[in-house]
Amino acid sequence: MDTGFTVEQLRAAARDAVRAPSMHNTQPWRFRLHDGGIELSVDPRRRLPATDPSGWGGRLGCGAALFNLRLSLAVAGTPARVRIRPYPHDPDVVARLVPDLPRRPTPAELSLHAAVPRRFSNRAPFWPDPVPAEARWLLGEAARAEQCWLELVIGVSAVNAFAEIAHSAHRVLGRDPAYRSELAAWARTGPARDGVPAAAGGPVAEPQDLLPTRGFGTRERAPGRDFEPEPLVAVLGSAGNTAADQVAAGQALQRVLLTATDAGLAASLLSQPIEVPGAREALRLSLGRFGTPQMVLRIGYGQPGWPTPRRDVDEVLDLPVGQA
Ligand SMILES: Cc1cc2nc3c(=O)[nH]c(=O)nc-3n(C[C@H](O)[C@H](O)[C@H](O)COP(=O)(O)O)c2cc1C
Repeated sequence: MDTGFTVEQLRAAARDAVRAPSMHNTQPWRFRLHDGGIELSVDPRRRLPATDPSGWGGRLGCGAALFNLRLSLAVAGTPARVRIRPYPHDPDVVARLVPDLPRRPTPAELSLHAAVPRRFSNRAPFWPDPVPAEARWLLGEAARAEQCWLELVIGVSAVNAFAEIAHSAHRVLGRDPAYRSELAAWARTGPARDGVPAAAGGPVAEPQDLLPTRGFGTRERAPGRDFEPEPLVAVLGSAGNTAADQVAAGQALQRVLLTATDAGLAASLLSQPIEVPGAREALRLSLGRFGTPQMVLRIGYGQPGWPTPRRDVDEVLDLPVGQA
């Protein structure tokens, strides 16, 4: 179809899409051209059956990749119209993108796109400097632009209450041997193109840490380099909790993360309290919000860190025969 996207457009946009965050850096996405449209699917071979039995994490990661895909196409002057979960009979297809009217990218699209290669999870301690009010407002706007909400956990007692919920979820998950072995399988000590390298894993947990960490790190921290005493914790949520809501939350997550990167901020993700249903409900009640918490972010000013690797883009493309 001559009015559809081309293989080159798909490949260029997918290069940006794969920079999205994903649980344990499984990179759970595939991209294909179909009837002139780009289709993004969850890759069933990259599921985490113990850690992500419902597929929530896979849909969040694909939602984040979808945001990068949209952004990349818009910046190339070929924006897309998006249908989420276009085929009821094939729930693995997360989105279908077809060309919209060509237009010039907006300044906001250009700066978010420039942040794509600079964004990564920073699990190291941040500086104690507070995040300015204007940046906090921009982060909330980023979530709202994608039909989600971002609630900041403000004040020492609210952060302590959140930390309790997060630690209890962390303990519940850690009791499951299948969860532990999945974590170990994706924590990398040698060269790999997926999984979380030890260098990016942050420091080894210590008893004085306010928030739990996932346990990818093997580095002892430098003396005096404890985590910031009053982290800025933000909870991203969606109106409902359908598969489409989770894809929307993934897009909102990526928009928030790129907005933070563009503002010179670092972030790490913390999803233990989302993965344990009782903890997620306690978190929702503590925020006094309707809707569903979908992700927790720690945001602040950090030292430059370590981007995690990605598989080659051609490994995640399903191209028509003769176009590979
Ligand atoms: C659904 C989801 C859950 C995640 N949960 C955590 C988490 O609990 N702890 C953590 O350190 N990182 C978490 N991450 C971040 C991933 O580990 C990270 O995105 C991945 O390793 C790729 O690295 P990058 O973000 O530096 O590109 C999560 C990411 C997603 C999409």
